[in-house]
Amino acid sequence: MAGLIPENLLEDILGRVDLVELISGYIPLKKSGRNFKANCPFHHEKTASFMVSPDRQIYHCFGCGESGNAFKFLMRHERMDFPEAVELLAKKTGVELPRHESPERASAASLSAQLYKVNELALSFYENNLYAENAAAIRDYLSKRGISPKTAKEFHLGFAASGWDHLINFLKSKNVSLALMEKAGLILPKDGGGYYDRFRSRVIFPVFDIRLRPIGFGARVLDKSLPKYINSPETPVYTKGRNLFGLNLSKDHIRDADSAIIVEGYLDFIIPYQEGIKNIVASQGTALTLEQIKLLKRYTDNAVMVYDGDTAGQIATLRSLDILIEEGMNVKIVSLPKGMDPDALVRFKGVADFKAMVDNASGLFDYKLEVLKSRHDIKDPHGKSRIASEMLSTINKFENAILRAEYSKRLSEEIKIPENCILEELNKLKPDKNRQETPYLNIARPLAPINPAEKMLIKFMLEEKELIERIMGELEPADFQDTRTAKVVSIMLDLFSRGKNIAPSLLLNHFSEEDASQLLCESMFMPELSEEDREKALNDCIRRIKVERLKSRRERLHTQIKSAQSSGDEERLSGLIQEFHDLIKKGD
Ligand code: UTP
Ligand code: MN
Repeated sequence: MAGLIPENLLEDILGRVDLVELISGYIPLKKSGRNFKANCPFHHEKTASFMVSPDRQIYHCFGCGESGNAFKFLMRHERMDFPEAVELLAKKTGVELPRHESPERASAASLSAQLYKVNELALSFYENNLYAENAAAIRDYLSKRGISPKTAKEFHLGFAASGWDHLINFLKSKNVSLALMEKAGLILPKDGGGYYDRFRSRVIFPVFDIRLRPIGFGARVLDKSLPKYINSPETPVYTKGRNLFGLNLSKDHIRDADSAIIVEGYLDFIIPYQEGIKNIVASQGTALTLEQIKLLKRYTDNAVMVYDGDTAGQIATLRSLDILIEEGMNVKIVSLPKGMDPDALVRFKGVADFKAMVDNASGLFDYKLEVLKSRHDIKDPHGKSRIASEMLSTINKFENAILRAEYSKRLSEEIKIPENCILEELNKLKPDKNRQETPYLNIARPLAPINPAEKMLIKFMLEEKELIERIMGELEPADFQDTRTAKVVSIMLDLFSRGKNIAPSLLLNHFSEEDASQLLCESMFMPELSEEDREKALNDCIRRIKVERLKSRRERLHTQIKSAQSSGDEERLSGLIQEFHDLIKKGD
């Protein structure tokens, strides 16, 4: 898991970071003995079972099993990958990370950094323009579209005036090269040489990534001319199909609501958001891409798509639907009346109507069926078969047998064909290669129970290094019956024998399996014992593990003896019986 980042730096960072402070930046923590507790941010619960240990710098939820150190918390809560979490905490703690080794990566990183910088400058330029005296008509336009001045500020809306080189001149004055402006997609080369501004006479909608960096711009005309919107081209920091407009503002709301409303346009995001619908994102065009869905899936598995009711919208929705199902999203759909979009709906009918439509969204099965029924004649045998085959290909994307059976039954009722025919057709289809796996769980599941003696010994060894030798004088890693404990013990011993620091929060960097890391954290949160009880517990745990070991050796021999008996292997049998006697005599 630790990958390319030197271990001593990870140790440095974890040594300086304060997990209690980090986590209390996200959720309120309450002191509870030596630890802190809270309602778990990773699953819904009424009583607090999420524990944070300031001594060990780890957290563990006894409800859902989610557990780890500071890196893991950021990875889970902020959906960062490991290097991102390391980078953030390194910054926070003032630990210097090595620069990228390869010059290519270094220059790619600095090109991106430069592009963010240029976009930042352009953003401030456009935003300032909006508040200039000569932009009263533009502010008026925004207000006519129902955008409050506060919202305009929150979204950093801007204005690109008419004229060919306002931005060029501004950026030149900030020492930005033309080459960089072009790479940022802000200017275009003229036929006869030279450059001109890409965005002119348009309202500017900046697009941010989830780390709040400006990555591109959408620009809308003020009149009826075409194209209505011009967008930034693809640049090293901007790919339209990989980004969801507004996610920078809505991600926490989406996570909290565990559901996202997906709309199409900039205004379809801004107006509902302004009116209090915060768990929303915009796809910036019709078809939702796989990358956009994966991005969204970091925050929720539940989506309601609210798209225009026109045919283009329907087709786009159908195509997106399959991707959503393949990715294991639970999708519902609101198909708006022709010519209506979320922006207009909220403004003219009110936010309550919009909410009601979202709450009453149809499941994807009903929606797809409605669309198909509007295209094919359900009474005609050929129409029926077309509808059936389209619906079956969707049903076939589900792996879950109950969903397959339930949807097949409903299809049979809808098109009035016996259920066994539907199932027969379904079974003719090959398993879909993109079939939805068992629903993806974002959070860990609690561990199957672990032998308390094994858990306790792990805790002892991690708390008192002297105990490692004492315990390992009597037991081997393989004596731990549970493969999960055995793994934790052997990794720990390996690091210990190489003279590494085995503080629990550091040890966690070496576990890629959820099981091992949960087990470690769970054991560290076992109750503290008095000195005297500790000694007793220690001996007791060792004894219990030895008893288990004896028992399993005996069982193993027993099976071997039986098999030697049945195969008539006399020599082997007498050897095994001797072994069995020795084992019983020795007693350990
Ligand atoms: P719409 O045509 O539905 O526009 O395009 P809209 O969002 O309702 O715009 P308003 O309300 O008239 O201002 C939906 C989205 O598709 C993208 C934009 O992201 C837009 O918000 N689009 C549309 C373009 O990129 N270019 C276009 O020319 C049109
Ligand atoms: Mn609109």
